[in-house]
This record gives sequence, C-alpha cells and structure tokens, in this order.
Amino acid sequence: MNTSFNFLEKSLELYRYPKRFTHPSWQAWDAADELLLTHIQQTQENIHQARIVILNDDFGALSCWLNQADIHHVSDSLVSQKACKQNIKLNQLDNSQITYIDSLTPMPQAPDWVVIKIPKTLALLEHQLIQLQGVVSAKTKIVAGAKVKMIQKSTLALFEKYLGTTHTSLAKKKARLIFCEPDLPLQQQPSPYPTVWEMQQEPFSISNHANVFARQQIDIGARLLIDNLPDCRAKTVVDLGCGNGVLGLCILKRYEDAQVIFMDESHMAVASAKLNVQNNLPDQMDRARFIVSNCLEELENHQQIDKVICNPPFHQLNTITDHIATQMFEDAHLKLKKGGELRIIGNRHLEYPQKLKRLFGGYNVISSDKKFSILSSLK
Ligand SMILES: C[S@@+](CC[C@H](N)C(=O)[O-])C[C@H]1O[C@@H](n2cnc3c(N)ncnc32)[C@H](O)[C@@H]1O
Repeated sequence: MNTSFNFLEKSLELYRYPKRFTHPSWQAWDAADELLLTHIQQTQENIHQARIVILNDDFGALSCWLNQADIHHVSDSLVSQKACKQNIKLNQLDNSQITYIDSLTPMPQAPDWVVIKIPKTLALLEHQLIQLQGVVSAKTKIVAGAKVKMIQKSTLALFEKYLGTTHTSLAKKKARLIFCEPDLPLQQQPSPYPTVWEMQQEPFSISNHANVFARQQIDIGARLLIDNLPDCRAKTVVDLGCGNGVLGLCILKRYEDAQVIFMDESHMAVASAKLNVQNNLPDQMDRARFIVSNCLEELENHQQIDKVICNPPFHQLNTITDHIATQMFEDAHLKLKKGGELRIIGNRHLEYPQKLKRLFGGYNVISSDKKFSILSSLK
C-alpha cells in the first residue's frame, strides 16, 4: 500500500481513516491533490502568510502539505476531519494551524485562497459555492480540482452561475483543475437547501441538507426496513448512519416510550435528522439525541443500547467498500447490551450474513426479496 506522499520538496505519510481499515489499494491522496499543490506552489510565494480555505480535503492531504499556512478545513464529513487530524499527528505537524469547519458553518471572510476538491454530490458543491458568494474578495484566488470524469459541464455551469468566469486546465494523470474569477461584487443567493419530500408510509415531510443520502426520495432499502422494524417498546435505539433520520423518526412515532439516538458521520445528515424530528414530532424532541460520529465511536461506553438499526453505506467517496459496514457491525456488537439486537438491511450479494455470523455467532432472516435481505443478530 502506498502511504508515502513524496511530492515536490515534502514527504508525508498519509492514511485514510480509520487507519486499521486501510485497504492495500487505497491512497489518501490523488492526482488532483498533486495538481492543486503544484498550482498553489507556483503561484504563491510565502505560503505561511496565506489564509487558505480548503473544501472537501478528503483525508487531509492538502491541509497536511500546506500546513505552514493558516488553514480552514471545510468538510461535511467527520471521517475527513478525523483523517486530517490523524495525518497531522502522524507527521508531527501543527494542528493549531488548522480550523475545522463543518459545511453548515460560515467560512472565514476574504481568504487568500479557496481550494476545492470537487465533491461526489453536485448539490454539496452548489451549497458550498453559494456559501462562497458571501466570502470571496478581490484578492481571493479560487481553484478546484478533481478526476477528469468528475468535471462535467454541469460542474462548470455551477461555478459560472454562482461565482463567475470559469475555465479548466489540461488534464494530467486523469485529473484537471478549474480556475474561477469571481464577478465581484457577488450577491449571496438564497440556497435551495434543505429540500423537502413527502413520505408515503408516515405523514412526514422530510427535509434534506445538500449532502444527505436519499435527498430526493426515500431509499428502497429504508422503505423495506421501515416495514420490518423490531419491537422498540421502552427501548433505547440507535439509528446508525441515520441520513435524514427516516428510520428513527418512524420508531419515535410508533413507540411512544422509545429513546432514539440518531448517528451519522455527515454533519448535514445529523442536522437533517434533527430538523425532521423538530418539524414532524416537535413534542418528542426529549426522546431523541443527535450525534455526529464515525460509526458508534462517539457513543459513551456506559450507554445502554437495546437496538441498533442500520441501512449501511457501501461506499466511501467513490470507492465501493464494505469496511464501514464491518466497523458498524463490530461497534454494534461492542456497544449493545447483552441480548440487544442489531437489525440491518443489505443487498443480497453482500457478505453481511458471514460478518454477522462471525461477530454474533448467528443471524435470523427477518424478510427478503430478490434484491434485499433484512437480517437480525442478537448479542
Ligand atoms: C445507505 S445510507 C442510509 C441512510 C438512512 N438511514 C436511510 O436509510 O435512508 C448510509 C448512511 O451512513 C452514513 N455513513 C457513512 N459512513 C459512515 C460512518 N463511518 N459512520 C457513520 N455513518 C456513516 C452515510 O452518511 C449515510 O447517511
């Protein structure tokens, strides 16, 4: 596995997060990071004097490499923030140079640079460009980078629409840069996010911040799991990887004495789940808690958990992987009470049954169709 990022005059050891799950073929940086760093190095003489806002720096490669500057690391992902902190520490860099901001918090005014890794979700990019309208000044240089296949006409159109004149570099190692000169002064436009859709199974209006899974409609897996929820009477339940919180919301509504903890690594997901409980079940807020967490890491060990309900993710950024599901199942096994239940939904081709058998010693199939199975394991 290549963890040595030797680039221009610097050498760094970089890992994804959590380090123990790093797959041999994964790197914590890509060719777009290299293009961005080359461009900044060529353009900016005294990097340590620059205030740089970096958006979507997945595992902290840019923030680590530019560590002498005054960095604002802007991300919707707690895993990204943790990866950056991990790599800063591993390389004995200065974490006090970095301010971590989630994607719903305003960015600092008039930075020297805005450096954007194009996110997988175009809606998140749109949200971020709207935020930038209120931030960039005449001195701000804006550059973005991504793999060529992630830069579509629609990507460039968003830069043109919200900031101004935009052009791209030639491709190198299958990546390219986007340069944007804002048409100042910019007027901050109203954001279309959060967007709302209506749920069929329950009379809920579901609000979704820009980067939330199933932002436009309910996920098929979530719909099946809602029809096969366990009995949660008087139980403390974690909605793990809650997204907009549809699973936990249904539990709160159906079981008047259940407590639900909504957890996700996406700040926007947890904010959406909170909004959805506030809007749909305003009198039940005292039975709900909301925690941004990598799997169940942020759950106190003494917490008594009866049920973990989960529609696990099967990719991290653009990589298809079951390592997050694996960590979720391991964490559930660790944090559940004796006799507690993990209930999941998964695509039938995934190896979830084997994982549950290894961890819990067995599982029951609650329901299944051609595509999905709902599985339950008891601790
Ligand atoms: C398949 S979606 C399910 C969302 C929602 N529960 C539903 O059923 O519509 C998986 C969720 O897991 C979250 N997730 C991904 N990686 C995570 C991690 N390491 N820790 C916690 N949540 C994670 C994603 O942000 C996403 O919201």
